[in-house]
Amino acid sequence: MEKIILTGDRPTGRLHVGHYVGSLRRRVQLQNSGEFDKIFIMVADAQALTDNFENPQKVRQNIIEVALDYLSCGLDPAKSTLFIQSQIPELTELTFFYSNLVTVSRLQRNPTVKTEIKMRNFETSIPVGFFTYPISQAADITAFKATCVPVGEDQLPMIEQTREIVRKFNSIYGETLVEPDVLLPENQACMRLPGTDGKQKMSKSLGNCIYLSDTEADVRTKIMSMYTDPTHIQITDPGHVEGNTVFTYLDAFSNQKHFEEYLPEYHNLDELKEHYTRGGLGDVKIKKFLNNVLQEELAPIRARRAEYEKDIPMVYDILKKGSEAARTKAAETMAEVKCAMQINYFEDAELIRAQSEKYRKVED
Ligand code: TRP
Repeated sequence: MEKIILTGDRPTGRLHVGHYVGSLRRRVQLQNSGEFDKIFIMVADAQALTDNFENPQKVRQNIIEVALDYLSCGLDPAKSTLFIQSQIPELTELTFFYSNLVTVSRLQRNPTVKTEIKMRNFETSIPVGFFTYPISQAADITAFKATCVPVGEDQLPMIEQTREIVRKFNSIYGETLVEPDVLLPENQACMRLPGTDGKQKMSKSLGNCIYLSDTEADVRTKIMSMYTDPTHIQITDPGHVEGNTVFTYLDAFSNQKHFEEYLPEYHNLDELKEHYTRGGLGDVKIKKFLNNVLQEELAPIRARRAEYEKDIPMVYDILKKGSEAARTKAAETMAEVKCAMQINYFEDAELIRAQSEKYRKVED
């Protein structure tokens, strides 16, 4: 069986370092590993519209932002197909047929949908499109016969629901769809990178994000004002590593080489944490180290972005070509689905022959 990746993001804003350690960095590694036969990366504009339908401008503007972030991270259109969800009508078609296989109560139990409904104060009037987006996400994944979906932890319920839909479809209509596996981020810090204020999640409305497209100066300012340990007042005070944003970021970003280069008096992160916990290590020092680490990671991303920004029509062209290629693949799956569901009337010579036979007999 071919090894195929599908994943994507809603275009509702520029991507930040949480997206990066949560999924983007991994995608680029997987792309360059050469282990996959096909890689599809989707700008999920149709899904973004499920809770931004009154704000089409926002979605429209952010498509290019997300595409630039993808390219600047190192996703390479020669190796990965970058495309826009709404340009693949087969995805909507599949969603309609899959919705027969899912109950309202099953959707209500989807933990991600539950949380999002609360977050958006939708309780009393949930738009149907939003409520059913897990079904559309199953269509996204299965249309490409994805075997591997690299996403953040919050997407786990979506993949589970997709697997259920696949099993149900295959058991009713015969083996057609592929059950995907999820690929989660490498550690807890990458799974849930907090905002610079130490709050649970990075979000634009909280103003606690470090964006991939931030300038070097912005990144430094944000790091220097990061939330650390409020009980660590004097340098000599023992500090807490747990819940300390700087250390969480170091868990997500730093490696052995960074220590050799920027902080050779420590061998590794464990030693640094140990000193901080013991007391005698100041916040400014760990913040400066984090700044070095993060700037090293972000500098090439920023440089690539600047190059792509010079040729925006080319970026749209990459998306257009990618959408055409993605559509070809989705159409293949759609044809198989139609055949399995017995709605391929005009491709089925046998059906037409058998029906004419039936009526000839009646006449005789
Ligand atoms: N739900 C994802 C997000 O919020 C975006 C998405 C849509 C997606 N369809 C997908 C991710 C299919 C992985 C696979 O960012």
